[in-house]
Amino acid sequence: MELFGIDIGFGFTKVTNGSDSLVFKSIYGEATDIQFRENLLDGNRQEDYLHLEVDGNAFFVGELAERQSTVRYFTLDQNQLMGNFAKVLALAALARMSKGQEPIRVVTGLPIKFLSSYREQLVQQLSGRHSIVSIEADGSRHERVIHIAQVKVIPQPFGSLYNLMLNERGDAGDRRFLAEKVGVIDIGFRTADYSVANKTKYLERASRTYDTGISQAFSTLANKLQENSGVNVELFRLFEAVRRGNIKIRGKNYDLAKILERIYTQLATEIANEVNQLWSDEWDIDTIVISGGGGVVLAPYLEKILEGNVLTLDPQEDARFNNAHGYLKFARYLWERGAVPAAAATPAAPPAPATPAVTSGEVNPEA
Ligand SMILES: Nc1ncnc2c1ncn2[C@@H]1O[C@H](COP(=O)(O)OP(=O)(O)OP(=O)(O)O)[C@@H](O)[C@H]1O
Ligand SMILES: [Mg+2]
Repeated sequence: MELFGIDIGFGFTKVTNGSDSLVFKSIYGEATDIQFRENLLDGNRQEDYLHLEVDGNAFFVGELAERQSTVRYFTLDQNQLMGNFAKVLALAALARMSKGQEPIRVVTGLPIKFLSSYREQLVQQLSGRHSIVSIEADGSRHERVIHIAQVKVIPQPFGSLYNLMLNERGDAGDRRFLAEKVGVIDIGFRTADYSVANKTKYLERASRTYDTGISQAFSTLANKLQENSGVNVELFRLFEAVRRGNIKIRGKNYDLAKILERIYTQLATEIANEVNQLWSDEWDIDTIVISGGGGVVLAPYLEKILEGNVLTLDPQEDARFNNAHGYLKFARYLWERGAVPAAAATPAAPPAPATPAVTSGEVNPEA
């Protein structure tokens, strides 16, 4: 039995099995004939080559789709992400990462506000036996069946919380996070999820999804670029430019550092306001944890303006993987330790793995 934590984000799909992890842009497209493979692959990593056939259709996924597909799909709409994307993205990742024919168990997540509407759909999309063909960079084809035996869908920020509270074996880990009231700010590409766990118990009233992800900053940037260059740059093509700090459009170089500074300050202020408002009654939060890829970018701004004790991000860790790592730890807790102990609600146990939709003030294990 192989266990995976899979975090299908609007920006990036992140997957881990503990020993290997994989991240790629949540983009797919029609596969096209690649005639000059050597040239195209020169300098590109083998693992960036995600090419597979599912249900008779051939797809490029991630960077490969961005570079090579004429028709490619990228979305900021949850309905689409679940409807069309989730299965292709998850299977592309599993085709690359799963080793043998063993059945696979997956823990994945959804933003709090989408949980009740999409949980069932996601379980159905992923569960079962999927006949796929994975195509390697050299053109060789491998037919195989990916058997996803079990899928557990939990609220996305639980990933970050479990990552803090459980150790690698899926046992109760750092005492500090088990005994404290912890607030998590998970900033992704489209969504920002704020959630609180009080002594491992999930606090519904203080947990919510907002639309203040990094894409908001990217949209502002794209509008400015259009004003200046006349070109409408697609949001998913801004990642590299933003990381470099400049973009070349039709031969002209645009420096992005100053404007990004301004846009990020604005977004961080908006996030801090949302958090301070949502958590106005939670003045007894011990620690605030910033998570997600957007968290890495905005932490320097947020640390200055958030009210509370903010845990500094570990620069060694890629915070984009926090949820996926937490999902994997939870998978180990669920499936490698045998049955969930009855005492799971005590402070020494991890927070509640919400089986039903999160509707009550508190989520009990296996409720
Ligand atoms: N090494 C990196 N490469 C690319 N982006 C990065 C990197 N480090 C941080 N980022 C930032 O991470 C953001 C994406 O974060 P993340 O992967 O957590 O989002 P997501 O989970 O896909 O989105 P959502 O949670 O809204 O569904 C990007 O917008 C970018 O600003
Ligand atoms: Mg995310």
